[in-house]
Amino acid sequence: METRAAVLWRLGSEPPYAGGSALTVESLTLSGPDAGELLVRIEAAGLCHSDLSVINGSRPRPTPMVLGHEAAGVVEAVGPGVIDVASGDHVVMTFVPSCGHCTECASGRPAMCTVGAAANGAGRLVAGGTRFARDGVGFAHHLGVSAFAERTVVSRGSVVVVPPSVPFDVAAMLGCAVLTGFGAVVNTAVVRPGESVVVFGLGGVGLSAVMGAALAGAHPIVAVDTVESKLSLARSLGATAVVDAGAVSDVVAAVRDATGGGADHALECVGSAAVLETAFAATARGGTTVAVGLPDPSHRASLPAVTLTGEGRVLRGSYMGSAAPARDIPRLIRLWEAGKLPIERLRTGDIGFDGLPAAFDELAAGRAVRQLLRPSAA
Ligand SMILES: NC(=O)c1ccc[n+]([C@@H]2O[C@H](COP(=O)([O-])OP(=O)(O)OC[C@H]3O[C@@H](n4cnc5c(N)ncnc54)[C@H](O)[C@@H]3O)[C@@H](O)[C@H]2O)c1
Ligand SMILES: [Zn+2]
Ligand SMILES: [Zn+2]
Repeated sequence: METRAAVLWRLGSEPPYAGGSALTVESLTLSGPDAGELLVRIEAAGLCHSDLSVINGSRPRPTPMVLGHEAAGVVEAVGPGVIDVASGDHVVMTFVPSCGHCTECASGRPAMCTVGAAANGAGRLVAGGTRFARDGVGFAHHLGVSAFAERTVVSRGSVVVVPPSVPFDVAAMLGCAVLTGFGAVVNTAVVRPGESVVVFGLGGVGLSAVMGAALAGAHPIVAVDTVESKLSLARSLGATAVVDAGAVSDVVAAVRDATGGGADHALECVGSAAVLETAFAATARGGTTVAVGLPDPSHRASLPAVTLTGEGRVLRGSYMGSAAPARDIPRLIRLWEAGKLPIERLRTGDIGFDGLPAAFDELAAGRAVRQLLRPSAA
């Protein structure tokens, strides 16, 4: 079948993207679903900084690629061997297709699936190859999802079935921003009531971490960003103090001051090695620094090594919120249904395909939290 899709043609382009040629909407042929795969009609797809990092080249991937990895939609067909998902089911896409059988999956760490990671790095589905093509040329998949399309084909291990009562725009953000930010607090840092938390970077991921910290009973919760509107949004989602990193001369001192000597848990949700250093410096003795952002692979962070030992510190990475999506997404939905997790507050607005390049300009400028592509819109 034919489907419209947003294609990234080359890495390394800088804003402005509106009016540029790096990201264009194309008509592609979509094949499959093959064995173990699903055909999904995309209803809502969020723009995440990880998409932007592929565009600007700080997260190198094969091109041409159909971008987008945070989405929800409706299953339109299932491939041979899929027995637990049916046409008409509503699904949330997650960005690590877990195979269920590798050592990491078998150890309860599906976010670390080695089979899924290899496929994602190569821009392929786990069964191999691409399903998007034109004139004999394959178009790479982004993180097994490729959600900036009217329709996509994904592996069964990329989706979680959700109740149709959850609106698509809320469901979409569960797949990356919320799973990642909330999970970093709850699964990776394992924050306990009364512990202090600082979150650096208040995009969809960092604000989800703030919401997670509030639900975990953390106090104080310090939110750090360079954009004033993000600080006020963080306050309304549970931050008890804010630090404007663009305005204060010493961010570490400001966070240490706000947390009574350093945070028990410091989460880097920017994607900057320099901010990771700041987060480490703002962590308390015995505390945990969590790396959530994805810096350019060539960037290095430098840490006072003796501090790890002398202060009994922990430095941990958190990919996809150390989540088990089939366990965590239903929990997140229950919290949202109970009014405890206002995911819709992350939504900046809806766009159609034509608005995609300009929306990446908004994201790059820090003016947006989650903008949602609605492929059926204009
Ligand atoms: N670990 C994972 O599984 C995972 C999943 C999704 C995204 N990510 C990564 O997490 C990061 C955040 O993603 P997002 O979509 O929320 O991004 P975003 O662009 O929406 O948000 C980043 C925020 O950081 C702020 N910021 C910039 N410089 C800062 C500084 N020096 N100090 C404090 N704040 C600063 C920006 O103003 C912005 O609000 C990115 O690196 C993304 O690639 C990781
Ligand atoms: Zn993402
Ligand atoms: Zn696996």
